[in-house]
Amino acid sequence: MGRQIKIFDTTLRDGEQSPGCSMNLKEKIQMAKQLELMKVDVIEAGFAIASQGDFTSVSEIAKNVKECTVASLSRALTKDIDCAWEAVKYAKRPRIHTFIATSDVHMKYKLKMKPEEVLEQATNMVKHAKAYCEDIEFSAEDASRSNLEFLYRIIENVISAGATVVNIPDTVGYTTPDEYYHIIKSIKENVPNIHKAEISVHCHNDLGMAVANTLAAARAGATQLECTVNGIGERAGNAALEEIVMAINTRKDFYNLSCNVDTKQIIRSSTLLSSITGVKVQPNKAIVGVNAFAHESGIHQHGVLQERSTYEIMTPESVGLSENKMVLGKHSGRHAFEDRLKVLGYNLEKEELDYAFTQFKDLADKKKVVYNRDIEAIVTKNAVEIPETYELKRFIINSGNAITATASIVLKYMDQEIEEVSTGDGPVDAAFKAIEKNIGMDFTLDDYVLQSVTEGKDAQGEAIVKIRKDDEIYKGRGLSTDVVEASIKAYLSAVNKMFHERALLEREEIAS
Ligand code: KIV
Ligand code: ZN
Repeated sequence: MGRQIKIFDTTLRDGEQSPGCSMNLKEKIQMAKQLELMKVDVIEAGFAIASQGDFTSVSEIAKNVKECTVASLSRALTKDIDCAWEAVKYAKRPRIHTFIATSDVHMKYKLKMKPEEVLEQATNMVKHAKAYCEDIEFSAEDASRSNLEFLYRIIENVISAGATVVNIPDTVGYTTPDEYYHIIKSIKENVPNIHKAEISVHCHNDLGMAVANTLAAARAGATQLECTVNGIGERAGNAALEEIVMAINTRKDFYNLSCNVDTKQIIRSSTLLSSITGVKVQPNKAIVGVNAFAHESGIHQHGVLQERSTYEIMTPESVGLSENKMVLGKHSGRHAFEDRLKVLGYNLEKEELDYAFTQFKDLADKKKVVYNRDIEAIVTKNAVEIPETYELKRFIINSGNAITATASIVLKYMDQEIEEVSTGDGPVDAAFKAIEKNIGMDFTLDDYVLQSVTEGKDAQGEAIVKIRKDDEIYKGRGLSTDVVEASIKAYLSAVNKMFHERALLEREEIAS
């Protein structure tokens, strides 16, 4: 079995802080439900005082998640802690997570406080939080660059004040596995009341050592590991959940640790996050990259065919990758489709299933072989669907290397069909301009990515578009076997997202 450790997921807080990874309320709730399904122990849902949006998402996640502890971050300030509590109080298992920096450089230049003042502030704020909630996590920000003697004192004091978890972050990704092991071990040996609290670690990946550092700390006695799906997070990111969990599982012989995470949900969590944020993982990313289980060289393929363990240290099934090919065609029925969804771990409501089945049929009309990844692309796209203010009815594209590309696009808006034509620098540019003309607004195109969902000439193309309007970024995703159509759908879905989010904001303003 091994020593039990807890997985603290901060995808929705530290992860969401990273550029291009922001999520709206619906997306955050969806991701939180997936984390719950994956059985992480703690979900850090956000930083409640950061904005009204953050507050709402923390409280909604607290109301919706039943199986995990739900935490909100707060600085070691009364108003932050009050706000964090207001947001997490709805959770079945609420936690207030409060932090203050403890390194000399942070205390002197950022906080402009003396160590004794920091110690007093941390202790008082933990006491303040404890009056609300039993479960209190205290983080010593930049702990890995802090004076060890000072760390021992502050940890001892916050535990006496009621902290149930003490977190030792490597905030700037500076430490090394050997050094971090020593820090955690020294804390265990030198803080007299350390047995009354859980030791947590939180690593950033600036030197590419976040996972190695986290695992070294676990060996030294840390019992809570903080991480994010796909390793998203500030700068170079946080320690990747999937890498930590699979290292623990695959090398049980070495680490002798175990955790509650259902590894079969790893790929689904990774795919959902990428589809929500529009940030894909690199193909060779450990565990969740598309090549992570692909054997290209003849020698490797031969070896795996003879005996899997020759070149495979984990099975694709263990992370939720099931058999790749799905021979369902246009004659396949709803039962076969539903069965396959179940195998893939999706349990859709009737309405969602009807919609997904219609899309599957459309796809099967255009494509001979439908792969599991095609099905997952349909389902994860639908999961974050938003109302269609503008609906694509038809389009015609004229393009070639001897003519100027022209796009004619018909959109439906409030029962009216409107057609607009535009030229552009290539078919996609012409199409985007025709959409802008149609809705009477222009946008800055921040990012545009086009890739195939599976292999093969008739593969579905997936387009991800990020547009900017008034300093806000809106993401859209489109799927089609025709790449121009996928791009148009992605652009329109970003536009529709903007209208949807603006309507929600207006409603919130009227209500308050
Ligand atoms: O990196 C860090 O130090 C943090 C803390 C607030 C836990 O994210
Ligand atoms: Zn962090």
